[in-house]
Amino acid sequence: MLIKNIKSLLQTSASEKALRGKHMSELKSIQNAWLLIENDTIKNFGSMNSCPKYDGDIIDGSGRMVLPTWCDSHTHLVFATSREEEFEMRLKGKSYQEIAEAGGGILNSAKKLQNTSEDELFESAWERLNEVIKMGTGAIEIKSGYGLSVEGELKMLRVIQRLKEKSPIPIKANFLGAHSYPTEYKDNHQGYIDLIVNEMLPQIAKEGLADYIDAFCEKVAFSVAETEQIIVAGAKYGLKAKIHTNQFNCMGGIELCVKHNALSVDHLEVVNDKEIEYLKGSETVATLLPSAPFFLSDPYQPGRKLIDEGVAVALASDYNPGSSPSGNMNFVVSLACVKLKMTPAEAINAATINGAFAMELEQDYGSIAIGKKANFIITKPINSAAFIPYSFGKDTIDQVVINGKRI
Ligand code: NIG
Ligand code: FE
Repeated sequence: MLIKNIKSLLQTSASEKALRGKHMSELKSIQNAWLLIENDTIKNFGSMNSCPKYDGDIIDGSGRMVLPTWCDSHTHLVFATSREEEFEMRLKGKSYQEIAEAGGGILNSAKKLQNTSEDELFESAWERLNEVIKMGTGAIEIKSGYGLSVEGELKMLRVIQRLKEKSPIPIKANFLGAHSYPTEYKDNHQGYIDLIVNEMLPQIAKEGLADYIDAFCEKVAFSVAETEQIIVAGAKYGLKAKIHTNQFNCMGGIELCVKHNALSVDHLEVVNDKEIEYLKGSETVATLLPSAPFFLSDPYQPGRKLIDEGVAVALASDYNPGSSPSGNMNFVVSLACVKLKMTPAEAINAATINGAFAMELEQDYGSIAIGKKANFIITKPINSAAFIPYSFGKDTIDQVVINGKRI
């Protein structure tokens, strides 16, 4: 396939490391460009004055942007049912944390998942996966965390494994057994951690069901010391950490994650100056999830400040039934501009190449580069890259190409 006369071919960066600082504001692109695909791979690209002769499938890209598909590095895409009853409770004044403390929230999803078969979970997750691919997502991370028992967590991870086998886009599985304490372990935290460490992890490792390990490091969930036990246990099986932290509290989660070379720290609605210093001196990616504070009416992540200070920032959807019931990365990119004060170039970099780094998929995804997978978005005719976040809620995507095939 050859796409020619592309108005702007966006995101042609080739970086060995996640972008940070002023590099985040540079969206490398070629104006009036062509892009050649062979099978599922990017064969070559350049500006129209060097366009090769080609007699296969030719697409006219006049007036359009072509950019890599979104790399969504943080989702909880496998879940039993939605939770709009809690949405209504919140609209009447209850907070997300109050609902969680009363046995709603994550425990509500865990109860529902217990009574849902692996096949049913697979079918609904498969539908959601296809829904986000159509919205331009071309690589994704999916967490467990609504099982909260040996059987439940394995069930979720097996569903993710089946999604991996069938999916046209790459999936990274993240084991989030430490999402919440199940009611029966409310007063026996160590008992649940022991269950994770001694029963869940060995079985998960034996079946090769996880790529990463996660924990919810917050006052309402796992303390810093408890999270450290989880990170250390995961590392014994080669699972790098991608950790939920600083959604509600600055309590040392970032310092802990940097100490253990976590791949990413995710959420970061609240973050203090000392924590920014830790991140600056590390390779850990700060993954911001702006649709969670949007949906929960919480304060937004300090995206502008993190970038100005030189932290590597990624954007992800956090698709889940409680705090972000949407996997629409186009909206996430808009929110990052409007609420996190990121520029369109920074937001697009954060949602593509830096998201790929946050899943260790940067060799094959996240930018337009020779040899990378042919996963890209062709927009409708638009004026500039900035129109993508500017026109929030509007569908600027004309076609999504995955593995060289239009879907
Ligand atoms: O990333 N905060 C923890 N976990 C999810 C929400 C899970 C839920 O409410 O079901 C999050 O926001
Ligand atoms: Fe999350």
